[in-house]
Amino acid sequence: MENQSSSDRNSDTADNDLEEKKEEQIERPIKTKKLPKGMHSFVVSGTTFELDTRYEYIKLIGRGAYGVVVSAKDRRKGVKVAVKKVHNAFEDLIDAKRIVREIKLLAFFDHENIISLLDVVKPYEGRTGFEDIYIISDLMETDMHRVVYSRQELSDEHIQYFIYQILRGILNMHSALVIHRDLKPSNLLLNKNCDLKICDLGLSRGFDCDDTMLTEYVVTRWYRAPEVILNASEYDHSVDIWSIGCIFAELLGRAPLLPGDDYLDQIKRVVGILGTPTSEELAFIGNELAVKFVKSLPKRNKQSWSTLFPKSNPVALDLLGKMLRFNPLKRYNVKQCLAHPYFEQLHNEKTEPLCKEQFDWSWDNFEPTKEILQNMVYEEALRFHPSKKPKKTMKAMAK
Ligand SMILES: Nc1ncnc2c1ncn2[C@@H]1O[C@H](COP(=O)(O)OP(=O)(O)O)[C@@H](O)[C@H]1O
Ligand SMILES: [Mg+2]
Repeated sequence: MENQSSSDRNSDTADNDLEEKKEEQIERPIKTKKLPKGMHSFVVSGTTFELDTRYEYIKLIGRGAYGVVVSAKDRRKGVKVAVKKVHNAFEDLIDAKRIVREIKLLAFFDHENIISLLDVVKPYEGRTGFEDIYIISDLMETDMHRVVYSRQELSDEHIQYFIYQILRGILNMHSALVIHRDLKPSNLLLNKNCDLKICDLGLSRGFDCDDTMLTEYVVTRWYRAPEVILNASEYDHSVDIWSIGCIFAELLGRAPLLPGDDYLDQIKRVVGILGTPTSEELAFIGNELAVKFVKSLPKRNKQSWSTLFPKSNPVALDLLGKMLRFNPLKRYNVKQCLAHPYFEQLHNEKTEPLCKEQFDWSWDNFEPTKEILQNMVYEEALRFHPSKKPKKTMKAMAK
């Protein structure tokens, strides 16, 4: 029942071995390859970065499923940035398409709670001669996974502010008809002042999806909504609300709420907490086998949120219960969540911008080939590096 693509790089442990890897990092120039003037290279955690000398390496900051992320100083602007290198990006064309999606989405959104794209490195090898992609974004200090498992005290106010900002960013995405689909602590970046930005948009999709998209859907299991685990033929923005609910609970309990070992264990854990769903609650699942399966599980009673989180603010738990509803139709949407009393101190519709236009997915409907995808990345890079026309030509054109 579970859709596992061969390229399921979204393991839950991908980010966790960071500390070990940090020790290994070395920085040394590569002498074997001659790079064009104005470029330099360095090796981090076994990966060679080839960049404009404009970007000066600082340190390794993250390793996700797709890339190695380092911090660097942008000498031109005098600011620190994050550089994500996707190595051999075109090895798997489905994965490569995700990276293109991520670039296009990051370029599209302009919101305080969504990471901004600062640069896409223009491949020196030309339009189709390159294998790696470098995405430059604004640098944040840490991610939520690290904060949850650190000794940092997390007050109700912290949690309120974090969840508020996730919802504020997701409101903007949902208003552009984009679903993130991979919300989890390591995809939420944080600064010491508690500012939060959503990153890793590679799995995002539009609302009207066809079946082929479901087969590509390999989002991290622990944060997957029941309708996704059970392969409902349709899903929508409410999958993000489920993930935010899981993140919310993880902040409250400082442990993942539903750390399923596999899809069977995942759904068992959901039922173990929410109780056996009624037939009505299962009505949205078209797949008869899946319905039978859920009904065949041992009957479980719903656990009360206040028993699970005895020390937490009851208002927080009220909202949590409204996000973690089995039936997506009964789940609160992002607007309802923001209007919940839990955010009384923070919520103000006027400062929660919607997107002015919808993201145009029409470019996405094609069978990927390496060449098309390389061209697309190159075109995105050109937006940041328009080719310089000699002044004379410009003048001539004006005449
Ligand atoms: N702009 C950034 N600032 C700080 N850390 C970042 C930034 N982008 C990514 N990271 C770190 O790198 C990790 C992997 O990045 P992510 O974009 O999620 O890539 P992947 O698709 O490989 O999961 C994140 O979990 C985070 O720890
Ligand atoms: Mg990630």
